[in-house]
Amino acid sequence: MKKVLITGVAGFIGSNLLDFLIDNTDWHITGIDNLSTGSDSNISGQKDNKRFNFIKMDCMHLTSLKEYEIVFHLAALPRIQPSFELINEHVVANLLNGIHLIEVMIKENHFPRIVYSGSSAIYGTPEHIPTDENEPISCLSPYAFQKYEFEKYLELISTRYPLDYVTLRYFNPYGPRSFNPLNKFNAYSSVVGIFLNLKKNGENLLITGDGQQKRDFIHVCDVALANYLASIHPEKLNTSFNIGNGSTLSILDLAKMISDKYSFIPKREGEAEITFANTSKANKVLKWAPLYNISDFIKGEL
Ligand SMILES: NC(=O)c1ccc[n+]([C@@H]2O[C@H](COP(=O)([O-])OP(=O)(O)OC[C@H]3O[C@@H](n4cnc5c(N)ncnc54)[C@H](O)[C@@H]3O)[C@@H](O)[C@H]2O)c1
Repeated sequence: MKKVLITGVAGFIGSNLLDFLIDNTDWHITGIDNLSTGSDSNISGQKDNKRFNFIKMDCMHLTSLKEYEIVFHLAALPRIQPSFELINEHVVANLLNGIHLIEVMIKENHFPRIVYSGSSAIYGTPEHIPTDENEPISCLSPYAFQKYEFEKYLELISTRYPLDYVTLRYFNPYGPRSFNPLNKFNAYSSVVGIFLNLKKNGENLLITGDGQQKRDFIHVCDVALANYLASIHPEKLNTSFNIGNGSTLSILDLAKMISDKYSFIPKREGEAEITFANTSKANKVLKWAPLYNISDFIKGEL
């Protein structure tokens, strides 16, 4: 039975990845989270599962990774706007945590596969639509830059040590638990979750700018599947993959799918005009393809 680690297990994507691995493998999963933005309630459904062990812990306090074959590294502070304000905290969360994991691997001379949750934010507003992995990097926020820096560290350190890693550049994940009212940064979480929460409370959906900005929305279970396939690929890949749906939807059209009560607020800096993934590389190498559709998800939530 494989032993694997998920960092950031109590967050939106981490908790969905945990559910996926419990349902689809016989692995033993240790999850760590410092609960800075994640929440115990996200993983309460698995707390009694004998194949899951939760440790409330900061990534920086991990001293050994020897028992793990795979490390899914998700722990982060993944919000664009707060990364402009609390810069040091975001550098620690989004870059230094990961570097600490690499240092533990080097110290122990044990190199489990790292499946790193990267971000399409590193493309900024891309020149090429749909966007493949060769798109020039153009970070519009400290968050995007920190996500890219860690990718680059993986690449550079692997020229000296036998790191085994895969970076998955998620586009715009949505799905269960994307909106966590207890998360101090919830105002900046996935727009799908925010809109559904406003609708539930009978409030106006607030659209930034004119709502013509477009996003490639990817269901969190498709993201979990990509993590799984990247983790079991028989070869050492040491590369990055786009993980998106391969389609794009404007924020205004998304709002109209959810409610007829919406209004407009000023545009925010640091956010892309469009995201639209070319996922041919993940389709070909990981044999991954998205299975979910956003309109079905929204219908199920209304
Ligand atoms: N949700 C998105 O829109 C999106 C898009 C692209 C990439 N990503 C990436 O996916 C990953 C997961 O994102 P998410 O949406 O689930 O975010 P999230 O905020 O819901 O989860 C992140 C988790 O990491 C934990 N954490 C933060 N710092 C930690 C530390 N030092 N030690 C231990 N735990 C720590 C938090 O408490 C939280 O539970 C992140 O790496 C993020 O950059 C997310």
